[in-house]
Amino acid sequence: MTYLVEMTGIEKRFPGVHALKAVQFNLRPGEVHALMGENGAGKSTLMKIMSGIYARDSGEMFVDGKQVTPDGPRAAQDLGIGIIHQELSLMNDLTAAQNVLIGREPRRSFGRLDEPALNKKTAEIFASLNLAMDPRTPVSTQTIARQQLIEIAKALSYNPRVLIMDEPTAALNDAEITELFKVIRKLKADGVGIVYISHRMDEIKRIADRVTILRDGAYIDTVDAADTPLSRIIQLMVGREVTQSAPTIPDTSQSPVALEVRNLSRGKEVRDVSFDVRQGEILGFAGLMGAGRTEVARIIFGADPRDAGEIIVHGQPVNIRTPHAAVEAGIGYLSEDRKHFGLAVDMTVRANVAMAHLGQFTNRFGVLDEGAMKATAIKYIDQLGVRTPSDMQDVRLLSGGNQQKVVIAKWLLRDCDVLIFDEPTRGIDIGAKSEIYALLEDLAAQGRAIIVISSELPEVMRLSHRIAVMCEGRLTGILPGGEATTQEHIMELATQRDTALVGAEDHL
Ligand SMILES: Nc1ncnc2c1ncn2[C@@H]1O[C@H](COP(=O)(O)OP(=O)(O)OP(=O)(O)O)[C@@H](O)[C@H]1O
Ligand SMILES: [Mg+2]
Repeated sequence: MTYLVEMTGIEKRFPGVHALKAVQFNLRPGEVHALMGENGAGKSTLMKIMSGIYARDSGEMFVDGKQVTPDGPRAAQDLGIGIIHQELSLMNDLTAAQNVLIGREPRRSFGRLDEPALNKKTAEIFASLNLAMDPRTPVSTQTIARQQLIEIAKALSYNPRVLIMDEPTAALNDAEITELFKVIRKLKADGVGIVYISHRMDEIKRIADRVTILRDGAYIDTVDAADTPLSRIIQLMVGREVTQSAPTIPDTSQSPVALEVRNLSRGKEVRDVSFDVRQGEILGFAGLMGAGRTEVARIIFGADPRDAGEIIVHGQPVNIRTPHAAVEAGIGYLSEDRKHFGLAVDMTVRANVAMAHLGQFTNRFGVLDEGAMKATAIKYIDQLGVRTPSDMQDVRLLSGGNQQKVVIAKWLLRDCDVLIFDEPTRGIDIGAKSEIYALLEDLAAQGRAIIVISSELPEVMRLSHRIAVMCEGRLTGILPGGEATTQEHIMELATQRDTALVGAEDHL
């Protein structure tokens, strides 16, 4: 049979990085082909070559059996190849519709933009995605998850025969993932070939037909998804067996309380939330997306105002109105939106790590101590396994997951007593995940109070000493960590709607 796309012997080098070593890959019509590998394995690079963004150094590529060399995204689009990038590439100042049909806007006479046609066409694509969104909405007002869906709509507007999805679900909740999978199945039925990249292992069984594994830029194997155990796929990815040991939960019930939150409220998003976290404790926050967990974190961190409520740090009420004040009070927040709040992508790894605490690296004459900065950056590069040729590499040149590790390094360096991590392992590969868990446990063991917000239940359950569950802005319960609590317990609280509110208000 002829493949929709076939790639053989693909080589790609960047300065200091041999990103792809004689890699092969092929795609059949109507299949979902998962591309797996650890952060920096070369997945995005291979797909950027397929979609004409990067030129390969050598190797061959065929579409429908004919040799091709797409020399740009347009050329790839003409071959029917579309890509949804790992990094969102929307124009924030434009509307959803203007983004979806950018460069191809319907025009009236004299080249005037035909707004109604633009919005109608976009509305049709949104409808096919079951996405309830006004095409005229400015992109900047949308959550990351919804921006991701706009990105998907944009790719579909080209009617691709090959659709590459680079971590499309990293920011989506379960309901949105289910919707996306429906779209993928529809595309499959139409004969579209889909390349699917994700670090969420459970998705592989749900959606993939075949799996190709890369490790360290090299092709490892292509296997059938249905009859290959996940443990085997993980082993191929990391080159060794990954064992997850159950952590022992320390008894912190007698430790001093580090953070107290009393009756926190903000509009409908946060309703009368109270909890505390003790020194040395990891408090997990579970809930469906939109339950208000990020909102609680943002208020505590001074990124959003509150209507009511009190925040008490080490027994002292604090009046936090800005993130700066939060850091002064010893509270750190690793936001879920890394790109906007976390990283200076045009600066080096070293500068990004050091930026969090420049004071630490200035001598008494106010001069930056580059040697100390370098040593610290290298320490974190090693500890977190950041894959980079050196600490002087610009962050924008790192793979997505490795950029995330740099943000985490920044916060680890800040001397905060209370650290809030919002989706700390999103986009992080399975090997590095356990390294990050170990780091969080270390921080707790040092006496810090840790809050972890995560949409992945196994992660919350694995890490938390106690689990706070939210639903529609309310804290519906706090469960013990460890074996005592099951996913069902959490889901019950996560879906426990306040019946007094149902119907009385316009939900969602
Ligand atoms: N433009 C570039 N310049 C220099 N190095 C690059 C560039 N693009 C990628 N790399 C490097 O090539 C390697 C492969 O990166 P790639 O983005 O393909 O990884 P990935 O498998 O997609 O990882 P992740 O799961 O973290 O997204 C990494 O070491 C990365 O730092
Ligand atoms: Mg990538």
